[in-house]
Amino acid sequence: MILPGSATQALAAALAAETGRDLADVTVGRFADGERQLRVDGIERGEDVVVVASTVTDGAHVELLQLQDAAREAGAGSVTTVLPYMGYARQDQAFEPGEPVSARAVARAISTGTDRVVTVNPHERAVCDLFDVPAEAVDAAGLLADPLPALSTPLFLAPDAGARDLARTVRDAHGTGEVDNFEKTRHTDTDVDVEAGAVTVADRDVVLVDDIVATGSTMSEAVAILDGRGARVYVTCVHPVLAGDAYTRLRRAGVEAIHGTDTVERPVSRVSVAPAIAAVL
Ligand code: R5P
Repeated sequence: MILPGSATQALAAALAAETGRDLADVTVGRFADGERQLRVDGIERGEDVVVVASTVTDGAHVELLQLQDAAREAGAGSVTTVLPYMGYARQDQAFEPGEPVSARAVARAISTGTDRVVTVNPHERAVCDLFDVPAEAVDAAGLLADPLPALSTPLFLAPDAGARDLARTVRDAHGTGEVDNFEKTRHTDTDVDVEAGAVTVADRDVVLVDDIVATGSTMSEAVAILDGRGARVYVTCVHPVLAGDAYTRLRRAGVEAIHGTDTVERPVSRVSVAPAIAAVL
């Protein structure tokens, strides 16, 4: 049985269809003080349960813990937690004295209610080592090539060196094109500088590839560099968090299209990672 988180309903349903499993009836209400009141119906004792929940908000994280506990309480034989998008994964170090390793803190909490974790393209693969149960990362980047139109002398461009392998994976899935990357310096979470190398983009289709578009600061800087150089720019990422006005900023900057996967449910979530997850369940 698949237990969907409220923020991950489309992907959970796609995964249920892909694997032939039932989709659980989950009711989420609120107590008068605002706390979530959750109920899952239909789990049979000994059943293998898969919780599918992206922790896009702190509330989604609490709900995930509740779903796991409901599965245990109902006597599930096993609990697998699919974390399509893992919130806090980028806080994988104490960057300043006094800070927690937040990714480790949430990984430990999630580990208490599950036998296994499956996540999708975490910012760093090493985040899997922070769980106290077996955890693995699915690479869904190749799926990002699917919605691309026919491209003219394509360039698959990462906004920083860390995303270059992702850009190469999308290029390989597309079939043809060059791969390159810009260089990024991050000052704060919303203040980044992106610098171009010797890349030629005039009259080309440029596909910008990153693991995540969060505030859109990184992508906006990359698009700004390409602006006025005669390129048609497509933006693609695995996790389209698109906080605040990120979508509008990118469209106003003149990109042709933006698309991502359904690890985060947004209007641009045109690619389902369900087949990639189903392959490891
Ligand atoms: C960082 O290195 C990541 O690959 C992304 O580039 C970054 O996290 C995106 O965040 P934002 O959209 O806030 O710039």
